[in-house]
Amino acid sequence: MDVVGFAALGLSAWLREQCAQLGINRPTPVQESCIPAILNGQDCMGCAKTGSGKTAAFVLPILQKLSEDPYGIFCLVLTPTRELAYQIAEQFRVLGKPLGLKDCIIVGGMGMVAQALELSRKPHVVVATPGRLADHIRSSDTFTIKKIKFLVLDEADRLLEQGCTDFTKDLEVILRAIPAQRQTLLFSATLTDTLEQLKTIAMNKPFFWESSSEVRTVDELDQRYLLVPEKVKDAYLVHLIQKFQDEHEDWSIIIFTSTCKTCQILNMMLREFSFPSVALHSMMKQKQRFATLAKFKSSIFKILIATDVAARGLDIPTVQVVINHNTPGLPKLYVHRVGRTARAGHHGIAITLVTQYDIHLLHTIEEQIKIKLKDFAVDEGEVLKILTQVNVTRRECEIKLESTDFDEKKEKNKRKQLILEGKDPDLEAKRKAELEKIKREKQKFKDKIQETLQQRQEAQLQRKLQKKRERKQKQVVLVKE
Ligand SMILES: Nc1ncnc2c1ncn2[C@@H]1O[C@H](COP(=O)(O)OP(=O)(O)OP(=O)(O)O)[C@@H](O)[C@H]1O
Ligand SMILES: [Mg+2]
Repeated sequence: MDVVGFAALGLSAWLREQCAQLGINRPTPVQESCIPAILNGQDCMGCAKTGSGKTAAFVLPILQKLSEDPYGIFCLVLTPTRELAYQIAEQFRVLGKPLGLKDCIIVGGMGMVAQALELSRKPHVVVATPGRLADHIRSSDTFTIKKIKFLVLDEADRLLEQGCTDFTKDLEVILRAIPAQRQTLLFSATLTDTLEQLKTIAMNKPFFWESSSEVRTVDELDQRYLLVPEKVKDAYLVHLIQKFQDEHEDWSIIIFTSTCKTCQILNMMLREFSFPSVALHSMMKQKQRFATLAKFKSSIFKILIATDVAARGLDIPTVQVVINHNTPGLPKLYVHRVGRTARAGHHGIAITLVTQYDIHLLHTIEEQIKIKLKDFAVDEGEVLKILTQVNVTRRECEIKLESTDFDEKKEKNKRKQLILEGKDPDLEAKRKAELEKIKREKQKFKDKIQETLQQRQEAQLQRKLQKKRERKQKQVVLVKE
């Protein structure tokens, strides 16, 4: 079947045929705008909502250019997570099958030697996380990325952020190893606040495309919040899952948590309630991470409990529900987390659990995404019925986890990471403790101000009410007279 839309963008018949086989028949707006610009040789920055087909927007034109001048290494794609690297490589492989495309995935947690060998065999496309690729560049001269035509940064804003994983140093190493003469393509659902930094990477007057809608999330997503007291949060969670499982047998759910430990504990707890759940977090061995995701993708497990390693880019069409077990502190993170559902025009629902301490976070999210979340109604009587059982089970799971060496492992991993980054773990710990102390004091100060303000507001309100009462009494007296 010939696909007119993609033909008009300048894509070759063989690629249109590949698209049709995957059910990609009509270009999405980001594809419609970015594909011609990329084919035209321009640098490109694409900022489009989650699930809108940004991957194909860069994979398709790169494959077309590769077919015109095939050599390796032709293209380098950088991405923040290992799972995402595999997903992107798969898109290249599937769409580029007629070319006999050779791809290579370079991510941490896998054998360096086998990767070095693969790199030396000149694959057409290398998809990598920055840390591991930088390690190869530093330690080996058996491959070169000096001749690449394309550099892609998927989730580009994350790659530039100095978050818990800081990619900036590794990026510098990589940017020094690639040619200045290249096409640079940057994509994300949240590019805007890193635009200036990104322009230093895509230097050749990049073509910039941003979705025109003011709202940052997709229309097909039903966004809800659920106000829950901190202490009974898990009972609400269990109730929600039970409800969705009862009502929709084929729905998959992703639950996002703030830490690896909570992720692990919640998974243990849900399993005690016989829910088909699995955990995904950065403290797991890499092979286990991939196996977990594969089982979730193929619906062997219906519930994935994950930290933010799964927040960006993952494309799992069966996911109908996203639950935020904690309210994300950054609106950006919220956008990516809830974007794991309602993809490619499908419907989905996202429920964010908000405790009494997180209401301000909810407001910041609403301000940024330009939409108000609606309240999600639950039968509190039902929650109350399971409350004690859930809390006891959670405590039991915590005790079980404490008896393993989970915390010790975490500490070891942290120290290893710091040493790799050239830092002194003990010095860092001291620095962190001092920062924590300052943070706590700041928070205390904030709380005090908040408390004073609240007291003032209450006093004002009381005075107003008192005045109102007095006025009413006067009126009654007057009427009686
Ligand atoms: N033109 C199209 N028509 C229909 N489906 C499409 C089209 N292009 C891509 N898709 C499908 O849409 C889904 C989402 O695509 P993709 O993962 O590229 O989204 P994204 O924009 O990168 O999202 P995120 O910001 O979450 O990374 C994929 O399953 C993909 O196969
Ligand atoms: Mg993507």
